[in-house]
Amino acid sequence: MKVPFNKPYMTGKELWYISQAHANGHLAGDGAFSKRCSAWLQGRTGAHKALLTHSCTAGLEMGAILADLGPGDEVIMPSYTFVSTANAVVLRGAVPVFIDVRPDTLNMDEKLVESAITPRTRAIMPVHYAGVGCEMDVIMAVAARHNLVVIEDAAQALMATYKGRPLGSIGHLAALSFHETKNVISGEGGALLVNDSKFADRAEVIREKGTNRSQFFRGQVDKYTWVDIGSSYLPGEIIAAFLWAQMEEADRITAERIALWNTYHQFFADAERTEKIRRPVVPAHCVHNAHMYYLLLPDLAARTLLIERLKAANIQTVFHYIPLHSAPAGRKYARSHGELPVTDDIADRLVRLPLWNGLAERQAEVIQQVISKF
Ligand SMILES: Cc1ncc(COP(=O)(O)O)c(C=O)c1O
Repeated sequence: MKVPFNKPYMTGKELWYISQAHANGHLAGDGAFSKRCSAWLQGRTGAHKALLTHSCTAGLEMGAILADLGPGDEVIMPSYTFVSTANAVVLRGAVPVFIDVRPDTLNMDEKLVESAITPRTRAIMPVHYAGVGCEMDVIMAVAARHNLVVIEDAAQALMATYKGRPLGSIGHLAALSFHETKNVISGEGGALLVNDSKFADRAEVIREKGTNRSQFFRGQVDKYTWVDIGSSYLPGEIIAAFLWAQMEEADRITAERIALWNTYHQFFADAERTEKIRRPVVPAHCVHNAHMYYLLLPDLAARTLLIERLKAANIQTVFHYIPLHSAPAGRKYARSHGELPVTDDIADRLVRLPLWNGLAERQAEVIQQVISKF
């Protein structure tokens, strides 16, 4: 493809930092680079603790363990999300309960959360789609009334804010992704943000195979042992070294993406006025991070045609998600709260356009091709 959908961006310092990790001779997790990345995340988000993981999926799994989910417990989430949001819950034997999304932001419809609560509900998992914040004030108020844990799926949301607060810093727990399709990357990678300090000690233990090894390294215990359930959720230093090269440039990476996003938005305004497409909606109190630019086409046939025509012009565009409630595992392990008409509708109509650092020199061509093919 002349214009791929995604092209991982390298800042240029990744190999230099990896060579330093190599020279340091500390290759397992939680060395100097992991500490720098954690401190940066804590500084940027205000999280009580930021723990690097090897993916957002891993961070969500840790969140599900920390929320003490067990068989039959229920967790409210959108169906319009990546599989990891639901899998983390199902792996504990608990049941994802899907609610519909808002037609504007495509985020969980906060007005539906309370009516989905049952005596088995334990947690809510808002997903900040395209790095645009869910209505966290409403969600946190419902959670407080019903004593529920809020785990933000902030996979796409690093550097974005809701009413001036960083996404990932509002729920009790949050998970970020540094997968190569995200803004700040390490190939595979992620982090768990612990905002409610009561989860901090257990989070460290779960991440270190259920042992108190982190306390041992800090000299707080004289030997370490198996104290809880857990797994190996920490990345090695090579990954953290790569990630540090990206974090150092996170502001510049985001600014460049915002410029690309704004250009798309400006050039598709006319097509929206003539109702050929609908553009993304960002509420005034949300600052997004330009993780994604998408268009909503009139119907599935129009979307299929657009993707095919752009492919013929060597421009790669993609769609997602197959709503989880209609996927085979979703039907087996989860349930929906009522009908999900908005989810079913937009899942058929959404197309994502190329958006990556370095696209600027090809963007005019992409825009011209897209507009000519509506
Ligand atoms: C909403 C959402 N949740 C979770 C994930 C999983 O992230 P990772 O690949 O880091 O496990 C993604 C990745 O695309 C995502 O978009």
